[in-house]
Amino acid sequence: MQTIKLNNGVEMPQLGYGVFQVSPDEAERCVADALSVGYRMIDTAQAYRNEEGVGRAIRQSGVPREEVFVVDKIWMSNYEGDAPMQSIDESLRKLGTDYIDLMLLHQPFGDRYNAYRALERALEAGKVRAIGVSNFYPDHLIDLCHFMDVVPAVNQVETHVFFQQVEARKYMDELGVRHMSWGPLAEGKNGFFTNETLAAIGAKHGKTGPQVALRYLLQRGVIVIPKSVRKERMEQNLQLFDFELTNDEMAEILKLDTARPLIMPSHHDPEITKMFMGFVPR
Ligand SMILES: NC(=O)c1ccc[n+]([C@@H]2O[C@H](COP(=O)([O-])OP(=O)(O)OC[C@H]3O[C@@H](n4cnc5c(N)ncnc54)[C@H](OP(=O)(O)O)[C@@H]3O)[C@@H](O)[C@H]2O)c1
Repeated sequence: MQTIKLNNGVEMPQLGYGVFQVSPDEAERCVADALSVGYRMIDTAQAYRNEEGVGRAIRQSGVPREEVFVVDKIWMSNYEGDAPMQSIDESLRKLGTDYIDLMLLHQPFGDRYNAYRALERALEAGKVRAIGVSNFYPDHLIDLCHFMDVVPAVNQVETHVFFQQVEARKYMDELGVRHMSWGPLAEGKNGFFTNETLAAIGAKHGKTGPQVALRYLLQRGVIVIPKSVRKERMEQNLQLFDFELTNDEMAEILKLDTARPLIMPSHHDPEITKMFMGFVPR
């Protein structure tokens, strides 16, 4: 599996498997399938409520723990006071492991500085090997990097061919933060699975449109975590290392970028902020 080096020297697989919207029961079967077909990085979150299933699948897979890279995220209801560290301990317990490879703040709302300081302490204590953030826009990221001691290793943000995060990426590169995509298949929106540009390029390489889209992100240095509950699709989404897109093909796919989010409207939209506040009743 191709790896990418984080800013603290830790290597992580550039391609992994995500389990958003996978029920707790199904997560165990899905992660077992994902590991059996060759995935070595699993992306979960406290908010997905499937850490136990993920942990059971990893333990029962026969794959040594150190060969599986586990990504987890702290939910914003756990950002205040001692809650972040307590929630990390809870995640470790649910996953049945004594370390998490990469722990992220899931959202840039609430007491994120307190939560990030807890991540820094968890890093020092060896509970996590790397720390980072998710859904941070450039302004959030610049602010966090300025006031915290440890630069986030990654920022996991909505990224796919229709929203390529070209501007945000410039700031991530400047700050030394790796770009990790969520929704790399655009969750199928905007005709993703039947897109003609992707299909035509794929035909030249004996690949499908989705494989071309994932390969495109890999070639742009993005970490990707496509999700599927179906084993044959998990396999398809993994077969990305036996072909290479040309510069002309890369340029053609760049043109699909709308520079606007497709799945999750901007976090700078007040109505979206209100929606997120609704997730943390006070
Ligand atoms: N940090 C965040 O806020 C955040 C937000 C969203 C997601 N994520 C992470 O990113 C991961 C991936 O994003 P996502 O799950 O939202 O969306 P995605 O990976 O872009 O798309 C998943 C959808 O594509 C379908 N699919 C997968 N492979 C396919 C294939 N080869 N052919 C046809 N259909 C295919 C899946 O259906 P089936 O399952 O039925 O195959 C599912 O409906 C998540 O699982 C999660 O780990 C993070």
